[in-house]
Parts: sequence; structure tokens; C-alpha cells
Amino acid sequence: MNASQTIADVSVVGLGRVGLPLALSFADRGLNVVGIDNDPARLRSVREGRMPFVETGAQELLERVCRDERLSLSERVPDAARARHIVITLGTPSFSHIEIDIREIRSALDDLLGVLVAGQSLILRSTVAPGTTDFVAGYLAKHRRFRPGEDVFVAHAPERIAAGRFLEEIDTLPCIIGGVGERSGEAVAELFSAFAAPIVQTSPVQAELAKIWTNILRYTHFALPNLLMMDCERYSANVFEVIDLINRDYPRGGIAQPGLTAGTCLRKDFAFSEERSAAPGMLLAVSRVNESVPLFLLEGIKRRLGALADRKVAVLGLAFKADTDDERDSLAHKLIRMLERELADVAVHDPRVSTPTVPLEEALDGAAAVVVATNHSEFRDPRTLEAIAQRAGRECLVVDPWNCWGAAQVFAYSSEIAALLARR
Ligand SMILES: NC(=O)c1ccc[n+]([C@@H]2O[C@H](COP(=O)([O-])OP(=O)(O)OC[C@H]3O[C@@H](n4cnc5c(N)ncnc54)[C@H](O)[C@@H]3O)[C@@H](O)[C@H]2O)c1
Repeated sequence: MNASQTIADVSVVGLGRVGLPLALSFADRGLNVVGIDNDPARLRSVREGRMPFVETGAQELLERVCRDERLSLSERVPDAARARHIVITLGTPSFSHIEIDIREIRSALDDLLGVLVAGQSLILRSTVAPGTTDFVAGYLAKHRRFRPGEDVFVAHAPERIAAGRFLEEIDTLPCIIGGVGERSGEAVAELFSAFAAPIVQTSPVQAELAKIWTNILRYTHFALPNLLMMDCERYSANVFEVIDLINRDYPRGGIAQPGLTAGTCLRKDFAFSEERSAAPGMLLAVSRVNESVPLFLLEGIKRRLGALADRKVAVLGLAFKADTDDERDSLAHKLIRMLERELADVAVHDPRVSTPTVPLEEALDGAAAVVVATNHSEFRDPRTLEAIAQRAGRECLVVDPWNCWGAAQVFAYSSEIAALLARR
């Protein structure tokens, strides 16, 4: 068999937050798609036309794709070889050794080795450490004697879309393609021309660097105001006022706002550079700053309220960022673990995640402190602040590193916030 005898246009291996919207979008553009995932619950959900997670517009898209019957599903990775193009969207976590964990990718490669045919392309959409795409090409050459770039095509086409914006950004964000050898880039560009986004061709390692440094830039961008927030507490200064002084009418860039900076990508992608960095430790320090925000908040609460044993603390938000249901690698969980180690009675409310939480009023009732861990739109609504005053009381300590209501206080009592906002 050769690639002209394949029966589908594209396979997507790993129907997670990256793979599923991509598979659906290819199908929606008229391509015949094979979706592969080894999680039977995930496949059942897709088969039944139910999105397993929230992505704006994806439920309607899934229903449309199910009606048009352009997506077939399988649990078996070798079935991906039914298509001319195979896109890998598997997880790439990092080991605690500060090193990429490519076991899922290697396992998929091993499953595909025996079934790949000339003319097919293998595309890494997962985020990977520099050199991984060349490793994949080398693996195919070593074990199957393929000549990547000539008889099979290998490329890195990184995903840089933000959660919740997939359907918009798949057609607008430049699509970076780093192809191995002479012809891989061109073959893979043909697949991604299904979307309206401009295609930018480069080398595999430049594509890999561009993706991880997109995230390193964001991770560092937020570490700076987080460090400043901690410094301001030490100097009894107001971080929001200092940020305003830095940014106001200043034409050369600006500093971001503080918050709990995490998520499955930012927390690990820096390690893909750090594993062989020319300046080892720099990005690790960025990570340590962001990772210490929960401890900073906990210590700030204890400084104001004393010991937390048997005192109720309400945590608003479990998701790693605003308006998503994704809790993976969220610092809210870390904060809760730390509060529990202080023997506090922790009550959690998040209206968006799948983990069961208590209703807002129940979380707030009698709380000595309320921490806004995620700046969901529901929490930014002034009615949440009113609910805090009513249910937790005017002497409740409100911890809001996001400045949800414009009071510009990381730590303030509910009565102080009301007075500050009344003066504005
Ligand atoms: N989530 C994001 O917003 C985002 C953004 C950009 C890049 N990325 C990168 O994209 C990649 C995928 O991320 P994700 O968030 O979609 O991960 P995910 O965990 O949501 O999805 C991975 C999927 O692969 C499946 N899977 C695991 N092993 C398998 C196997 N052997 N065979 C078949 N299926 C298997 C899992 O069941 C899961 O559904 C990662 O490299 C990540 O760093 C993610």
C-alpha cells in the first residue's frame, strides 16, 4: 500500500483539548478524519455527541460533524495509518528531572512503525523540546529505513491557540510549520491549508523554539508582577499603585497584573528549554516565583488572621485561569493543599469545573477569609463582593491578587473594600 491508497485524509492521535477541536475542525472543512484516543470514556462521549470538556463553539461543531459522518473513531493508534496525514496531539509532560517526557510520543511511534507507508506524513502538534522532531525523523529512518523529507514527511506544527478561542484562532493565528528535509514542509502545508490562517515555513528546531518561547515569554511576563506583589508586601507598598506608576503614559512596554499563574502548558514548557539551557536556573527561578504565589497568599492571611486551625477559608475558583473548566496544574489546588496543612476548614466554589464544589453562599457562610483563586467572570461581578459582605461578614479578609472589583488591594477586609469602592 502507499499513501494514495489511504482511505482518510487525516488522523489525529490524542483527542484532548488540542486534538479534539482540531479533528472536528478538519472534519468541518470537509476532510475525512480518523480520531484516535485510548480513553474509552472520551471516545464514548464524542460518539454520543457530547464534548468531554468546554471549548467555545465546539459542542455545536461536534453535533454538525456527527451529522455529516466525517469523523471515525478508534482506540488503536495503528488505525491512524488509514490516513495520509497523521497528526500527533498527545501529552508531553515534563519529568521532575526538568526534562521532557516523550513516552506517549514514543509509544505512538512504536505503534505506527510497522504500518506507515511511503507518502504519509507524521506531524507533531504536541509541544516538544528542541530536537524532538529530528528525533522522530531519525527514529523512522533508523527502524524503517525511510528517508524523511523524501519518502515520508515529518514536521512540527505547534499549537499556540488559547483555550476557549480555538475556533477563531485556528483561522487567524499564523500556522508555523517546521518540516524535515526538502519536501515535508510543503506536504504538511497542504493539510493545514484547510484553514484560512497564514502558513509560515521554517526549520523543525525553529518551530520548536518558537512554540516553547511563546509560552516562556508569557510565564516570565506574569512572574514579574508576581514577584513585585511579594516585594510590595515586604515594603508595605501597594502593588497595584506601583504597577500604575510603571505603566501610566509610559511608551516603552508595560508590566502585567499579578495572579496565580499556572496551567498545564506554562508550568512545564519552560522545562523544555531549561533541560539544556545555556543559563541554567533562570527559567527555573521564573517558575519558582509563580509557584510561590499560593504560599505568599497563605502567609499573608496568617499575618493578618493568625493561626488558621479550625477557621473557615473560602476559595473561589479551581480552574487554572479565568472562564475555563480546565483544572490541570492549577495553583488553586496547591493553595487548598497548603491551607489544609494549616488545619483550616476549606470550602471551595467554582461554577465551571467538573470537580464537585459547594454553592457560593455555602462556601462563604461564616468564612474568616475568602481567596479569589481564579478570576472567573462570575467572581468579577460586583454581586459576588456583595455576597461576601453578606455571608462572610464585614470583618472577613478578602484576598484578591487579581483586583477583581477595582479595589486595588491584595489583602483587605470586606468593610475596607466597601469603603474604598464607595469613594470611587
Ligand atoms: N491544552 C492546551 O491548551 C495546549 C495548548 C498548546 C499546546 N498543547 C500541547 O498539546 C499537547 C496535548 O495537550 P492536551 O492538553 O490536548 O492534552 P490532553 O491530555 O488533553 O490530551 C491527550 C489525549 O491523548 C490521549 N492519549 C494518551 N495516551 C494515548 C495513547 N497512547 N493513544 C491514544 N491516545 C492517548 C488521552 O486520553 C487524551 O485524551 C501537549 O504537548 C501540550 O503541551 C496544549
